[in-house]
Amino acid sequence: MMMAVSPMGDNKNSGVHVLVVDDEVAACEPIVAYLSKKGYRADSANNGIDAVDFVRDHLPEVVILDIKMPEMNGVDALRKIRRFNGDCVIIMLSAVDDVGIALDTIHEGADDYLRKPVELAELAHRMESSLDKRRLIRENQDYQDNLEAKVAEQTKSLQRLNKKLKKANLEIVRALSEAIEAKDPYTRGHCRRVAELSLAFGKEVALSAREMESLHYGALLHDIGKIGIRGAVLNKPGKLTEEEYDHVKLHPVIGDKIVSNIGYLDGARQVVRHHHERYDGDGYPDGLDKSRQSVLVGIVIIVDAYDAMTSHRPYRKALGHEQTVTLMNESRGTQFDPDLLDIFNKQVLE
Ligand SMILES: [Fe+2]
Repeated sequence: MMMAVSPMGDNKNSGVHVLVVDDEVAACEPIVAYLSKKGYRADSANNGIDAVDFVRDHLPEVVILDIKMPEMNGVDALRKIRRFNGDCVIIMLSAVDDVGIALDTIHEGADDYLRKPVELAELAHRMESSLDKRRLIRENQDYQDNLEAKVAEQTKSLQRLNKKLKKANLEIVRALSEAIEAKDPYTRGHCRRVAELSLAFGKEVALSAREMESLHYGALLHDIGKIGIRGAVLNKPGKLTEEEYDHVKLHPVIGDKIVSNIGYLDGARQVVRHHHERYDGDGYPDGLDKSRQSVLVGIVIIVDAYDAMTSHRPYRKALGHEQTVTLMNESRGTQFDPDLLDIFNKQVLE
């Protein structure tokens, strides 16, 4: 039997929908009347089957469920309700001899239990506590969900910003590398080609993303120091005098100074400064040998030489690919790292 009762009262749970389930109408009615007086919207059911149907159809916030009932007892009704509604407060009512069962229902998803005969004020108090607890859990969950959504949103926006920043950085580096070519037209396309080939090389030796970025910037800017070299020397068609050659040899150090104040070029500095070092330590400006050269430097030393040899220069014509490879192999272990040279010949140039 069902009976709807009008809401009254002004407690903070006013209007909260409660279903009271008991097969004894005499036990049900006083609870419904009391709760209605306190402002709840109270309905009742007299067996477990009706209770489950009611909860499915009307989604009350609270179900007060007697354990001992014919047809479907309160424990079975609790299990069925919890299968589709984990959110409502369920309070079990137990007779003296089924307190143990009532205790077990807590593990099945009941929020609380009360012994019969029910003390009405106590029931209302327990209901309010359970409702408060549910509210807190829900608010906490909402907060967590919001927080996760906010963090995800912020992360996405940071990633977008980072991507934009990287793009802008690369554009600046490309512009700087084109400035070198404006001063030294014979090297037109050289920095771009060295960068492309170095990146292909970097993939073959499985560099990290950060190393690839440093390699990319370093390869594009390796000759940036030529900006500080006299144009007459850079573009001299004939052989350089010793003084002129010493002057050209300053470009890695000048380049290093140029990039040293740009934070995001920190990883690229080593390439700019050391691209004229040799594997045997006979290069310049620091005479670094193999033990102090990074893979990034070793890569650019090889790629820079290859591209220079296969390009026209004021003082000589471009060499063919085969001839260049043969000549470079003659400097295997002296100018070039032999392991990297093998990878370059067999994997990068293939
Ligand atoms: Fe150079």
